[in-house]
Amino acid sequence: MMKEKLEEIREKAAGQIGQVQDLEGLNQIRVTILGKKGELTGVLKSMRDVAPQDRPAVGKMVNETRAQIEAALEEARKKLAARALDAKMKAETIDVTLPARSGKLGHSHPNTLALDEVKRIFVGMGYEVVDGPEVEYDYYNFEALNIPANHPAKDEQDTFYINDKILLRTQTSPVQVRQMERGKLPIRMIAPGRVYRADEVDATHSPCFHQIEGMVIDKGITFADLKGTLAEFAKQLFGPDTKVKFRPHHFPFTEPSAECDVTCFKCHGKGCRMCKGEGWIEILGCGMIHPHVLEMSGIDPNVYSGFAFGIGLERIALLKDEIDDMRLLYENDIRFLDQF
Ligand code: DAH
Repeated sequence: MMKEKLEEIREKAAGQIGQVQDLEGLNQIRVTILGKKGELTGVLKSMRDVAPQDRPAVGKMVNETRAQIEAALEEARKKLAARALDAKMKAETIDVTLPARSGKLGHSHPNTLALDEVKRIFVGMGYEVVDGPEVEYDYYNFEALNIPANHPAKDEQDTFYINDKILLRTQTSPVQVRQMERGKLPIRMIAPGRVYRADEVDATHSPCFHQIEGMVIDKGITFADLKGTLAEFAKQLFGPDTKVKFRPHHFPFTEPSAECDVTCFKCHGKGCRMCKGEGWIEILGCGMIHPHVLEMSGIDPNVYSGFAFGIGLERIALLKDEIDDMRLLYENDIRFLDQF
């Protein structure tokens, strides 16, 4: 009786296991046969009805059946697992013979290239590169640079105001004041950065552009130092035969002030399209720092003197790469930028 029952369970199990399609189904079979309420477990529970002298033999049979079913389950599990892995591998094949996707490397913008060059030259002469805020106090941008409230120079630099006292800096010159106020002398610095003016966009104007400020303060600094420094700068930037020329100009924060021209690097001074037939190209404003400017920032003009200059970065980038429209620098057109 018991023996037949066990035989029946084993055969039924073998039949089910033979047909199962996945691991979940297999588990289901395990539960219905071997689980707490499973069929084989039911047989074990009915052992109490078996005559005591028959129990060891019946118990042995039950255990054997259980072992057989477990072995069959394990064998099926291995097969199903292998089949599942196989399917997964097939689904995820990678064709290693496909050509690799080539990465597109970017490169520096013409502005950055020009700035790196200017930095390299001045760092080579012992200058420090410093930074200043783009959102600036009116005091630093104008007043401390000798441009008081109603000075006409304020009109030339149509300004974006945040409020009465705060604005977007119109020049990098306020960094001069911040550096002087730190009180560490001597000073030899350049300060590159963005500046803002309410200008209409055209081939030579943009409401946001870049300047590079330069400043040297020490005992005994003269206009000769200014000329020598900028002559060397121009040679390194535009070539060894480049000459510089200083034209008197006015800036409120320098006295005397000048604009500095370099010989056209294209025609070497003969006159061409690049320099509009002049042979010379203006590249920066400069001068000896006004004694009042030194004084306002706590430096004694009787002991110290210095020079300063302001370069338009875009102008340098446009000249070096012979680009004739400043807008090209900002349009982010890859076809243009890829050329540098
Ligand atoms: N900040 C001036 C401008 O925006 C440029 C300049 C001229 C800077 C003379 C200087 C300087 O430091 O000495 O036009």
